[in-house]
Amino acid sequence: MRKFIIGGNWKMNRGTPQAAKDMLEEFIRLVREINNVDIFIAPPFTSLGGASILLNTNIKIGAQNMYFEDTGAFTGEISAKFLKTLNVEYIILGHSERRNIFKETDEMINKKLKKALEEGLKPVVCIGEHLEEREAGNTKNVIKRQMEGTFKDLKKEQIIRTVIAYEPIWAIGTGRTATPQQADEVHAYIREILEKTYDANTASSIRIQYGGSVKPNNARELFEMENIDGGLVGGASLEAASFAAIIKAATKEK
Ligand code: 13P
Repeated sequence: MRKFIIGGNWKMNRGTPQAAKDMLEEFIRLVREINNVDIFIAPPFTSLGGASILLNTNIKIGAQNMYFEDTGAFTGEISAKFLKTLNVEYIILGHSERRNIFKETDEMINKKLKKALEEGLKPVVCIGEHLEEREAGNTKNVIKRQMEGTFKDLKKEQIIRTVIAYEPIWAIGTGRTATPQQADEVHAYIREILEKTYDANTASSIRIQYGGSVKPNNARELFEMENIDGGLVGGASLEAASFAAIIKAATKEK
């Protein structure tokens, strides 16, 4: 049995300690009793300090990006070691906004992933296709290529500590969710690749989140699908009530 995992990716929103606290105080109250779902919030770097009110709660702190070196002349970058001093446990890597706007390649994400694992962070690695790629029938090819590049040379004990987030780019911030069947089909394909690369046990133990316009009104039908183990939530994670409602949708058995 895979435990559900739900993450809030705040992107470039709620960027001050106070703005983070305003949401988190209420959110802690709403979900404090929930222990059968792993929960994390990834605020901007500038509000990670404010997120320290999550310490000693059932909600963990995540970050949205890191660099693969420890220190040095890398203007504008932040290392895994720095993040750990702010109690960060989860790290989102390879989000489509990083890949598309900031030109991150599979090779860079692979280096970040290995570094994150070496530092004991829990990586959440995003993959997903563009609308044109889906419409051209290339979804599986894109997923396979991204997995080969992003997970290159990853050992079984490393991939097992990694969460995968399937985020079809056409569903992000658009209000256009993948249907539960569309998402589950890709999740099943991701498991198929994991089984070929590693083994059946590894493939069935890795958690795969769905991301892309997850809302309180569609979360339950997504989470009911066999291969969907939770969500990576953008817009709906910014408000305590909507994010808590999504988490509650994952508390029931499939
Ligand atoms: P939305 O939930 O706003 O569509 O964002 C999804 C996402 O990109 C999470 O990482």
